[in-house]
Amino acid sequence: MKAFILTVAIIATYFANQSQSATPCEARRFNHDSVVCVCTENYCDTLDPITRTDAGLVKVYESDRAGKRLEVREVRFGNDLPGVDPGRFKNVRVNRDRKFQEIIGFGTSFTDASALSLGRLSADLQTKVMKSYYSNEGIEYSLSRVVISGSDFSNRPYSYDDTPNDWSLNSWRLVDEDINFKIPQMHEAQRQRGSPIKFIGSSWSPPAWMKTNGEINHGGTLIGNTGSDEWKTYARYLRKFFEAYRENGLDFWGMTVQNEPMTGWDPWFPWNTCGFNAEMERDFVKNDLGPIMEEGGFGPDRFNIMVLDHNRPLAEDWANVVFSDNDATKYVKGLAVHWYFYGTAGPYDVYDRIHDKFPNQFILATEACNRNEDDENDRKGLGKWVLAEDYAHDILLDLLHYVTGWTDWNMVLDMNGGPNWVGNNHSAPIIVNPDEREFYKNVQYYAMAHFSKFLPPTSSRIETVPGVEEEGLLELGAFERPDGGTAVIIVNTKDNEEYFNVEDPALGSVKVKVEPHSFNSWVYYR
Ligand SMILES: *[C@@H]1O[C@H](CO)[C@@H](O)[C@H](O)[C@H]1NC(C)=O
Repeated sequence: MKAFILTVAIIATYFANQSQSATPCEARRFNHDSVVCVCTENYCDTLDPITRTDAGLVKVYESDRAGKRLEVREVRFGNDLPGVDPGRFKNVRVNRDRKFQEIIGFGTSFTDASALSLGRLSADLQTKVMKSYYSNEGIEYSLSRVVISGSDFSNRPYSYDDTPNDWSLNSWRLVDEDINFKIPQMHEAQRQRGSPIKFIGSSWSPPAWMKTNGEINHGGTLIGNTGSDEWKTYARYLRKFFEAYRENGLDFWGMTVQNEPMTGWDPWFPWNTCGFNAEMERDFVKNDLGPIMEEGGFGPDRFNIMVLDHNRPLAEDWANVVFSDNDATKYVKGLAVHWYFYGTAGPYDVYDRIHDKFPNQFILATEACNRNEDDENDRKGLGKWVLAEDYAHDILLDLLHYVTGWTDWNMVLDMNGGPNWVGNNHSAPIIVNPDEREFYKNVQYYAMAHFSKFLPPTSSRIETVPGVEEEGLLELGAFERPDGGTAVIIVNTKDNEEYFNVEDPALGSVKVKVEPHSFNSWVYYR
């Protein structure tokens, strides 16, 4: 009997340890330069939680184009890399005394396309997706954007009240996509994280009948003006969404006023939109939306309204218009930014200027996605490394310029990079293949991992001297974690390896080799 109990105990311990033990990527190559990691009902790669280690021990996690996926190795302060020419090292000093912005979070988005595609997987695979994103055996997402009714990533255009001229909003109701997909999935995400997720609501279009052009898409704005019954009705329409989700047990952390508001001025714009300029958003928030949300229990003490929710080149003008108005900033907490026009969106130092002028307003990246531009029949680009480099580069540059977090777009998409009711198909960090009972962790998943896993909310960026920022080639940032650990993140998009000699006044210096086309996240403790 004793032997039996001992055996059971050993087996139980073995399995308990197994569940806390990282499992490697099951790599598969499609026709691109890097690999994806395959998850099935029997297998999916996992990570260990980040825990405190001995002072001066550095855990180096590395992913690269050649196929590493968060492979971990240990080095120590005071080490040597024999045979490397001393002139090859880039010397960087970490200065924990100079702190910059705090991290709000990293995450993804509950679009209809994601919710419906995820729903086509078995329950087991759906859980594996949620664990991969939200749990501590995954990448520990802490925030997520939720679409208020439909976007282009839906399989139909709709709003929550498509009864023409229903100004009393009597026909307002949630739809199947919310009730049977988004709401249960958001609960599962919170279960996997084990604590509340910061949910952010964003609307693409009001009901067509509330708009000057009478359509969900194309150019059009809200009928009426700030202070009018029409604008107040739209504010109530939006509030009903947050009330309905609250009744379903889901509290939101905040909202953006309108997704990509400047697209609503384009007469030919193909999908759901509504035009606002900076003055209109400022006035809508201070006179209509802000007070109406507050009356419903979504006041500025606990609910974060963000403006813009559009590309970086617009950021400075919008910040100046909205944040200079004290009645608006009673409700507005931050600026939401998107990354599109990647490469031509202009320098990131607009964010430094905005932060210097309006230090009480945060800047949060609320949307980004990409796709294989070379083949319209292969938008998903499974294993195409540049898709990951675009993410990692933008995230790190944002963080080096006061941005407080980064939100990916579709959580999952199908093998066509859809569904999308206007054919604007894209890639995503996880692509689902329900026919084969598999899903694929695409390269962008690991780009997100290198930040989200290592920078929990309330981590702070700290100074490095000199700053390392060879735009688009090689970038380095350092951060202090809430557990006292230090995280160093490096993005190398060069064809050659790099060598770093990082000095920390508390520990001396450590030498690390960084692979070509790689992401590095290091964690160490004092
Ligand atoms: C987009 O994806 C959907 C499936 O989700 C597919 O039916 C459609 O053909 C795709 N469209 C394009 C333009 O790739």
